[in-house]
Amino acid sequence: MNQWKGKTAFITGASNGIGAAIATRLLAEGMRVVGSARRQDRVAEVLHKVDTSGDRSLAVQCDVRDERSVHEAFSLARKTFGGVDVLVNNAGLGHAATLAEGKVDEWREMLDVNVLGLCICTRDALADMRSRGAHGHIIHIGSMAGQRVPAGAGLYSATKHAVRALTEALRMELREKGDSIRVGEISPGFVETGFASNYMKSEEKAREVYSRFKVLEANDVAEAVVYMLSCPAHVQVHDILMRPTEQPT
Ligand SMILES: NC(=O)c1ccc[n+]([C@@H]2O[C@H](COP(=O)([O-])OP(=O)(O)OC[C@H]3O[C@@H](n4cnc5c(N)ncnc54)[C@H](OP(=O)(O)O)[C@@H]3O)[C@@H](O)[C@H]2O)c1
Repeated sequence: MNQWKGKTAFITGASNGIGAAIATRLLAEGMRVVGSARRQDRVAEVLHKVDTSGDRSLAVQCDVRDERSVHEAFSLARKTFGGVDVLVNNAGLGHAATLAEGKVDEWREMLDVNVLGLCICTRDALADMRSRGAHGHIIHIGSMAGQRVPAGAGLYSATKHAVRALTEALRMELREKGDSIRVGEISPGFVETGFASNYMKSEEKAREVYSRFKVLEANDVAEAVVYMLSCPAHVQVHDILMRPTEQPT
């Protein structure tokens, strides 16, 4: 990770789960970290645990559904640390909202956060990286639900299939322009975070899901991010699929 020491990573959804683990790990690897989420106070707590002096981290409030909010977050990152070298598009969520009976508000939130929010953040990060000629890296947190369709999760799965398409589309756009910026996607299976309780609207059901077998920890995904970033400039690992060993589907 020497190539990234002192460089800046912008992580969306850093207030909990996978995003919090990635922020913590990249700080520990010597990077500067801009953590963003709607719950800014929780992001600040996460970052403070590693960066007690606050010199290498910044917690910003950002709702990725709101273009202006994203723009302001990137402006603040630029003002504080001079720019962004790594973007981790992690903010995302699922609702158990079937195609037959789901609520449009829940479908829309999944599309707005998982797909459009990711595109807005990508565009702002690219503009910043290109303006400085940065050898940047963009990482999307997809899902195994973007590789096949879990029963009852049609809309969520559609958003993660979209993320997969967007990863490849971005890779091609970057190559076409002769950019040195790399792009990659990490697609986890079950990870123990706040995801399941939000998806099923029940802490109890979430506990049951995570106790069926040993599921992934958020740190396992952070480890995959470090692997992707650690590759030399001529190596682009753009697809990592990871399941809990015992996950049958
Ligand atoms: N856990 C799993 O089993 C699993 C498996 C595969 C993929 N994933 C993916 O992993 C990513 C992270 O999820 P997680 O498992 O860590 O879930 P989590 O613990 O619920 O965390 C979700 C994060 O997304 C943020 N977020 C949600 N809506 C947002 C918005 N409108 N604007 C900005 N941030 C927003 C939340 O922050 P605020 O609420 O503070 O805004 C939170 O930090 C998601 O993309 C998810 O699809 C998860």
